[in-house]
Amino acid sequence: MFDIPIRPRRNRKSASIRALMRETTLSASHLICPMFVQEGDSNDPIESLPGCYRWSISGLVDECRRLMSLGVSCVDLFAVVPDEKKDEHGSEAWNPEGIVPQAIRALKSALPELTVMTDVALDPFSTYGHDGLVLEYPDGSIEILNDESIEVLCKQALTHAEAGADIIAPSDMMDGRIAVLRAALDAEGFDDVSLMSYTAKYASAFYGPFRGALGSAPKFGDKCSYQMDPANAREALREAELDSMEGADFLMVKPATLYLDVIAALRAQSKLPIAAYHVSGEYLMIKSAAASGWLDERKAMLEALLCIRRAGADMILTYAAPDVAAWLRDEAGQ
Ligand code: PBG
Repeated sequence: MFDIPIRPRRNRKSASIRALMRETTLSASHLICPMFVQEGDSNDPIESLPGCYRWSISGLVDECRRLMSLGVSCVDLFAVVPDEKKDEHGSEAWNPEGIVPQAIRALKSALPELTVMTDVALDPFSTYGHDGLVLEYPDGSIEILNDESIEVLCKQALTHAEAGADIIAPSDMMDGRIAVLRAALDAEGFDDVSLMSYTAKYASAFYGPFRGALGSAPKFGDKCSYQMDPANAREALREAELDSMEGADFLMVKPATLYLDVIAALRAQSKLPIAAYHVSGEYLMIKSAAASGWLDERKAMLEALLCIRRAGADMILTYAAPDVAAWLRDEAGQ
């Protein structure tokens, strides 16, 4: 036969050697679980997100206790808001007795070690389903106001901080909101509350199942005047520079698996930690393919999340957090 001097396969010849050579790891401590919380006592399965629930506050506390026992110690809270509490301004968003402040207080008193992150944006609270305040023109066209939106987002963030949130996660993509939120939090003595910026949030089709879960799809127009164009990567670097100057504690890219180049580019440019959001559509694609029997759910989900880590994400927001943490624990026990 011929002479082959260099044989990369030597580094793959046994499970033990493969483990020594492994460049990237995935563990429960890298995961953040997005959770939906609603008024009342029922925990309702979400049709568009199999395995996920709209939790009551007590259901949420129990599920977070289970997550912590699996090694997942951070959750991101989203409000499910009944239609009768929605208005044009989304004013329920800054009600100190609203569902999110109530949930934060319950979690912090039952599970003080849990890190509680909260979503800041108006879409679940607004009849328009937009993340900011909407101005309607006589010809029927609309504008999403920037500076006015930031003002109310500050009010929302302060109600979360007052209730005990550890990390505020503004998902609205308004310009300058990190600097203004930072100043608003500091002015009220919340200099310990962190800001995770949705730095590169794309106007993606893959948020569909999430909007189904919250009934928060935009009623008019789309989100293209504030969320980023999927065609752009340099623009994400510009957003990252601004967020970092404005005082973000860490950055986030969303969606994740279709935007691995963006995660890698941010990783190369920024010194800040980077999160990636494996969004509802990415989760549902794997769940549906697995339900039809054509994909191995466990292998596909673990591979998707590991590859997000390989691209450079320090942490991953994923609906699969409880399953993944349980699978990782099983593997470690084998
Ligand atoms: C809105 C928000 C969205 C998601 C998180 N926050 C949807 C949107 O921008 O319309 C999507 C999350 C997902 O799809 O999993 N503030």
